Amino acid sequence: MSLRLGDIAPNFTAKTSAGDIDFYEFLGNGWGILFSHPADYTPVCTTELGKTALLQEEFAKRNVKVLAVSVDPLEKHMGWIKDINETQKCEVNFPIIADEDRKISEAYDMIHPNASVNATVRSLFIIGPDKAVKLIITYPASTGRNFQEMLRVIDSLQLTANYSVATPADWKEGEDVVVVPAIKTEDIPAKFPKGFTAVKPYLRLTPQPNK
Ligand code: BEZ
Repeated sequence: MSLRLGDIAPNFTAKTSAGDIDFYEFLGNGWGILFSHPADYTPVCTTELGKTALLQEEFAKRNVKVLAVSVDPLEKHMGWIKDINETQKCEVNFPIIADEDRKISEAYDMIHPNASVNATVRSLFIIGPDKAVKLIITYPASTGRNFQEMLRVIDSLQLTANYSVATPADWKEGEDVVVVPAIKTEDIPAKFPKGFTAVKPYLRLTPQPNK
């Protein structure tokens, strides 16, 4: 059965390029990104993992641990990481799981047999500190993901978790956010001292609270 938003992300143990891990221990009390790529030594994946490595500081700032998955073996990962570091001018420090028995790929429904019977698609899960799944995206093998967008989603999720706000379409860091519908308009001034604009009774905007 596939995972849905709000489900608890299954725990697992795995062999990775950074040693054996227990997923929950690896995440600790922070946020996590678990993402699959179709295969090692492939061009799009090489750029994706390079981009992720170059954004390590941005993920760390947000208390997000990153973990990649493919069904290729560990020895292959180790050789490929050298290529990624060389070609993408980065240092891959996050673990890449060697999911040879597909235990994790299957638990997270990362193999879509009508796309490929033996490779994972580009699945990505954001997992919250409560271990619940907060975001699921699935891209085809031929389209590399936008990792700036992953940071934007993390920022949005963390704003919601910490301040009871949501983010509008195309929202960018520093722009106004939306007060969640659960908060009554009369309660907004106490909760949002920077002020608010009621465009409609159901559309209340406020400056980003943590800026
Ligand atoms: C890649 O991972 O680079 C890739 C995989 C399948 C089709 C095209 C590119």
